[in-house]
Amino acid sequence: MTTNLQPLQHASSHEENTVLGLLEAIPDGVMVLDVAGVVLYANRGAYHMFGGRELVGRDLGLPITLDGRHAEIEYIDRAGCIGRAELRASRFDWLGQPATAVSLRDTTVRYALQEQLALADQVFESAQEGIVVTLPDGVIVRVNRAFAAITGYSAEEARGLTPSLLSSGEHGRAFFERMWRSVFEEGRWQGEVINRRKDGSLYPQSLSITRIHDADGVLTHLVGVFSDLTQDKIAQDKLAEAHSQLSQSEKMAAIGQLEKMTAIGQLAAGVVHEVNNPVAFALANLGVLGEYADHLLRLVDAYEQDRSQSSECAARVDQIREEIAYTELCVDLRRLVDQSRESLERVRRIVLDLKDFSRPGEPNWQWSDLHQGLESTLNIVGNEIRHKAKVEKRYGELPLVNCAPSQINQVFMNLLFNAAQAIEGYGRITISTGCDAETVWVEISDNGKGIAPENLVRVFEPFFTTKPLGQGTGLGLSLAHTIVQRHRGRIEVRTQDGEGCCFRVTLPIGGALGEMVVDAV
Ligand SMILES: Nc1ncnc2c1ncn2[C@@H]1O[C@H](COP(=O)(O)OP(=O)(O)OP(=O)(O)O)[C@@H](O)[C@H]1O
Ligand SMILES: [Mg+2]
Repeated sequence: MTTNLQPLQHASSHEENTVLGLLEAIPDGVMVLDVAGVVLYANRGAYHMFGGRELVGRDLGLPITLDGRHAEIEYIDRAGCIGRAELRASRFDWLGQPATAVSLRDTTVRYALQEQLALADQVFESAQEGIVVTLPDGVIVRVNRAFAAITGYSAEEARGLTPSLLSSGEHGRAFFERMWRSVFEEGRWQGEVINRRKDGSLYPQSLSITRIHDADGVLTHLVGVFSDLTQDKIAQDKLAEAHSQLSQSEKMAAIGQLEKMTAIGQLAAGVVHEVNNPVAFALANLGVLGEYADHLLRLVDAYEQDRSQSSECAARVDQIREEIAYTELCVDLRRLVDQSRESLERVRRIVLDLKDFSRPGEPNWQWSDLHQGLESTLNIVGNEIRHKAKVEKRYGELPLVNCAPSQINQVFMNLLFNAAQAIEGYGRITISTGCDAETVWVEISDNGKGIAPENLVRVFEPFFTTKPLGQGTGLGLSLAHTIVQRHRGRIEVRTQDGEGCCFRVTLPIGGALGEMVVDAV
C-alpha cells in the first residue's frame, strides 16, 4: 500500500491519523489525482483493486473529466483477471491546487451476476418448451414466450392465476392427487396431460414439474416445463396408419402368397390324381411292352436262323427285312421303349415334386435333405432358368436338416428366379452347399448385373423392386427372409454392382426343433 501523506501535512497528527484510518478502512477504492491524472494518493481498497501495484505517481488513464458523474471501468486484478468497477469522480481543491477525488466500487461480482441473470432470462424466454413458475400455492409468477404461444394466454393474463386455467376436465381428481403427491414426496412429476388452450381447443402435452428451494431449504417455487405433443401425436397417428397400411398390404401379400401356394397345392393334388394313375398305367404297360418286344424279336431271330424254309419264302422275308430296315428297327424299338419309360418317369417325378413343393396348410416340419429340395425346385423352375443360364452344382456333404421343406424350397425358388432374371443374355448360376457342426448353408450365385450399393440394404424390404411395373412385386426376398428367420437362420447377400450376386442361406441343422408354426408366410 502506498499513500502520499503530503496533502495532510498541515493537519494535526491526530486528525491525520483519523482521516487516514477512515480512508484505509473503506472497502471501495479512493484516490486523489492531479489535473494530469497522476495519482497523488491511493487507499488500500484501490491498491488491492489494481493488483497490489504501486499507484502513486502513475497515470492510470482514469476518466477524470467526469465531474460528479460515474462510469464503468475495467481493471486487471491481482490474479490477472479483468475486473469491473463503477468510478465516480469529483473535482475539489487540494491545498489550493485543483485535483480530482475518485471513488471506485468493485462491481465485478454484481456484473457477473447480472450477466448470468440476463443469460438465464434469455434461455427462459427462448426455450421451445413452455415454462410456468408458480409460488408454492400455485399462483403463477412468471411464464415464458412459449407458454403464451402454446396456451394462447399472455404473460399478463396468466400472472396471478393458477395453472388450473388450462384445465381441460379430462383428468379426474385422483390423477391430480397422484401428481401433487409425487411432486411433494418425490420432488418431481413427469407425464402427459390433456390441457385446454385459451381458444377452447384441447391439446396433449408432456409436462414435468419440479420444486425450487432457497439456500435454507425452504420451498419457494414450483416450475412446470411442458411441450405440445399435438404434432408428435399427429405424426405418430400417421406413422401408425402407414404401418397398419403396410402391414395390411404385407398381410394381403402373405395371404396372396398363401393363396397362390394353396392353388399350386390343389393343382398339384389334382395333377397327381389325374396324371399319376395313367402315367403309372402307361409305365407298367411300357414295361410289359418292352418284354413282349424282346420276345417277338427273339422269335424273329429264331426264324432267321432256320433257313430251311422255301427259298421263295426266304426271299420275301429278306425283302421285308430290307423294307423295314430290320436291324435298325430292333435297335430303335428298344431305344423307344426305354426313352418312353424315362419320359414317363420324369413326368411322375415332376408331379411328385410339385406335390411335395407346396402342401397347403400342412405344417410339414421334418428332417429333410436340402439337396433333394434343390433338385425338386430345379425341376419345377428348370424351364424358366434353362434358357437363361447353365446351372453349376457344387454340392458338399449335408446332414438332414430339421425344416419345413416346402417353405425352404420356396426360398430356393425365389433366389433362383432372381438369379435368372438378373442375367442378361446367357449366364451361369452356381449352387453351392456346405455345413459346419451346427449349421448348413446354401449359396445361390449368378454372374448377372449385380445390385447397386444404394439398393443393397433395401432388397429384403417388402415391395422393393427394381423390375419394371408388373414384372416384380418386390416380395420374393422379403418372403425368403421371413421364412429363413422363422427357421432361426440367416440370409445374406454379397454383390458387386455389375458383377453378379451371391445369396447365402444359413440354417441351423436342428431348426427351431418343431417350435415353429409353419403358417401363412
Ligand atoms: N440375384 C440378383 N441380382 C441382382 N439383383 C437382385 C438379385 N436378387 C434380387 N435382386 C434385387 O432385389 C430386388 C428385390 O428382389 P425380390 O425378389 O424381393 O423382388 P422382385 O424379384 O423384384 O419381385 P418378385 O420376386 O416379387 O417377383 C429385385 O428387384 C432386384 O433389384
Ligand atoms: Mg424376386
